[in-house]
Amino acid sequence: MITKPMIADGQPIIETLALEKAYHRTKPVLRAIDLSIRAGERVALIGANGSGKSTLLKCLIGLYPITGGTVRTFGQEFVRAPSPRQRADMRRRTGFVFQNHCLVRRRSVLSNVVHGLLGEPGSWRAFAQSIAPQDWRERAIEALAEVNLADKALERADALSGGQQQRVAIARALVRRPALLIADEPAASLDPVAGREMMELFIRLCAEHRITLLYTSHNMRHAAAFSERVIALSDGRIAFDSSSRDLTDQDLTMVFGAEAGDG
Ligand SMILES: Nc1ncnc2c1ncn2[C@@H]1O[C@H](COP(=O)(O)OP(=O)(O)O)[C@@H](O)[C@H]1O
Ligand SMILES: [Mg+2]
Repeated sequence: MITKPMIADGQPIIETLALEKAYHRTKPVLRAIDLSIRAGERVALIGANGSGKSTLLKCLIGLYPITGGTVRTFGQEFVRAPSPRQRADMRRRTGFVFQNHCLVRRRSVLSNVVHGLLGEPGSWRAFAQSIAPQDWRERAIEALAEVNLADKALERADALSGGQQQRVAIARALVRRPALLIADEPAASLDPVAGREMMELFIRLCAEHRITLLYTSHNMRHAAAFSERVIALSDGRIAFDSSSRDLTDQDLTMVFGAEAGDG
């Protein structure tokens, strides 16, 4: 088993200072973002469509270069973009779950989860579960058991329901044993019941494995009910950053505007 330096609860995992991101020079999508996310927190990033949530997630983990300010992730600071070494380190310690879970549809469920180990030393073997080392296969089966899908390991990914496929994506993120889990609209493509189950699963797994969770949502109930802290983006700036318990309907209306009645 690969051991990774643990970050004690309460220590910052991600910090940004005056982060700015522009796709086109004249029109920044994110402006003056100062935030600090501490180990063990469960944070919802909310905001209307186009407010910059997905962009911010990608900037925090160095998937997109930033155009101003600094980001410090796992204690490593970067301006513009992380170095290849920093990027590899972040990737190793972070699990991602995206809205369109990006499974390889024709591959087995187990293969898809083994893919989550890409980026680990020797990871070329993860391209096919048939040549993955035994301990990787075991780790993948373990991760599938955590999302109650061990019995589907050998089925083709596209034979599963949408909710099950999203759980495979969670297993693929967990198999790395990440310290941080980043999920972009993890429940958006699911019906309300499957969406709730998805969020409950996230919470349970993050608590059990002491994983810091940062997820985006444009569903107000998911934002308030499944997080401890809510950071709201509006027009590329932080509109508020508060404890979920203190969230008022007014806050949500301010962020979501006409969408406030949804979901
Ligand atoms: N790759 C890209 N190139 C250019 N503009 C983009 C790109 N991705 C997002 N944008 C723009 O940045 C803004 C924020 O988008 P996004 O981060 O996807 O918001 P959200 O996730 O909150 O819906 C939008 O105006 C969007 O059109
Ligand atoms: Mg988005």
